[in-house]
Amino acid sequence: MKEPGRPIGVFDSGVGGLTVLQALKEALPREDFLYFGDTARVPYGGKPLAMVRRFAWEISGFLLRQGVKAIVVACNTASSAALPDLAEDLSVPVFGVLEPAARVARAHGKVGLIGTQATVESRAYERYVPLAWAKACPLFVPLVEEGLWDDPVALLVARHYLEEAPKDLEALILGCTHYPFLKGTLRKVLPGVRLIDSAEATAKEVAEALAREGLLNPHGRGEVVHYVTGDPESYKNLAERLGVRVEVLKRVSLEEL
Ligand code: DGL
Repeated sequence: MKEPGRPIGVFDSGVGGLTVLQALKEALPREDFLYFGDTARVPYGGKPLAMVRRFAWEISGFLLRQGVKAIVVACNTASSAALPDLAEDLSVPVFGVLEPAARVARAHGKVGLIGTQATVESRAYERYVPLAWAKACPLFVPLVEEGLWDDPVALLVARHYLEEAPKDLEALILGCTHYPFLKGTLRKVLPGVRLIDSAEATAKEVAEALAREGLLNPHGRGEVVHYVTGDPESYKNLAERLGVRVEVLKRVSLEEL
């Protein structure tokens, strides 16, 4: 039975998926959300794909037990590791972030990708868009999780990773949902290159699919319940520094997953 009044589940390893959550809230102001940040196990990007796949299944199971009507995998690493299997096996619609970003990128000539080691090595993006250049940037996620997205150290690290990017790159896919927080820094290093993130394109795809499936919530109030596996206070402080108000926050132990 369809239950449009239920919330939408969104998950990531940490605060990165908040970029997608914000876009979802804009596109779907009447929906309620459960946001899950696996902050006890962040970062995912250096872990084996099989392990990240297991995390994605555990979190999806938890979100389903809370009664979500759809799941947005707001993490490129987990999308690369667990889709399409997750979407095929779960009883609710499941959305990843790779295809929407790749679709935007396809309109450009020479496209590059930056992402976590797991995402880049999985070559999952190449299923949807040809890439002229790809680079794993493992220090970016910890920089964001440490609140250093605007710090001079982020600029140094960005220069280090991006110095060998082709000079004639037209667009760069930010293949990690943490990276939009680094946009100001990335623009300084690659001026003139179009930076593509998956947030808006994913939100549009989710909104269209829910409308098609008759799953739009007519009575939702735009409420978000945040779940974290790590320290709730540090999560709240960081999310609020990133411009996201956290009103309801719950800690989930890994044993509950
Ligand atoms: N936001 C996740 C992604 O999109 C970060 C992965 C990580 O935790 O390393 O890939």
